[in-house]
Amino acid sequence: MNNPIEVNDLSYQYENNSPVLLKKVNLTVSKGEILAIVGLSGIGKSTLCYCLSGIIPHVYGGVMAGDVLLNGTNTKKMTLPQIATTLGIVFQNPDNQLFSPSVEDEIAFGPENLCVPQGEIKTRINEVLATVGMESFRHAGPHHLSGGQKQLIALASVLSLKPDIIIYDEAMSQIDAAGKVMIKEMLLKLKSEGKTAVMVEHDFDNLDIADRVMMLKNGTLVPYEGALT
Ligand SMILES: Nc1ncnc2c1ncn2[C@@H]1O[C@H](COP(=O)(O)OP(=O)(O)OP(=O)(O)O)[C@@H](O)[C@H]1O
Ligand SMILES: [Mg+2]
Repeated sequence: MNNPIEVNDLSYQYENNSPVLLKKVNLTVSKGEILAIVGLSGIGKSTLCYCLSGIIPHVYGGVMAGDVLLNGTNTKKMTLPQIATTLGIVFQNPDNQLFSPSVEDEIAFGPENLCVPQGEIKTRINEVLATVGMESFRHAGPHHLSGGQKQLIALASVLSLKPDIIIYDEAMSQIDAAGKVMIKEMLLKLKSEGKTAVMVEHDFDNLDIADRVMMLKNGTLVPYEGALT
């Protein structure tokens, strides 16, 4: 069986003359694994997340070499909507994720685009709002929420597509302690269902749920051994 994520000799720079952020990165993430990635600010962690999720090369141009395979299929050969049924990414900044007039519309957007039946969409909205403890905000405007609440809605909108793989880019940063416990429990529950997660983290307290911690340094991934430099 194919692994959920397979990265082969991945190199990337945003422009020809800009720094090479990723240098022949190789990575395999197994089904049901929670992989954490740490590293200094600006080192390229979010860029790696964009590569894992097909945003690179489909949205950003840049210079990419090597391949990312999701469940055995090369992201270069998939469209973003195809990727969205397999993999969901929760962005570091929730303002980059939220654009709908209401929380309900925000969560419905992805499933509607994938032609999920209306009744099923309603069920999913209820489920994911309960999962993130935001039921009472169903009709709120996402842009009026606090940073932590926005992160919870961004997560809910990703969960509504029921992806096999979740990429979580420092997406707990503005969530309070109780919310972090809830999200970590949710990630462990998803893991028990065979889902796979990659979480970029700067808060080392959140690494306890990870099966493996890797550090991005000098453009490559190395096992994290307790120091970022
Ligand atoms: N769209 C872009 N075009 C050009 N350069 C970019 C772009 N996005 C990020 N960069 C640059 O690439 C480098 C790596 O950025 P990236 O956001 O991947 O780092 P990071 O490890 O996620 O940092 P942080 O810990 O602050 O989130 C930075 O120097 C950043 O300025
Ligand atoms: Mg980042």
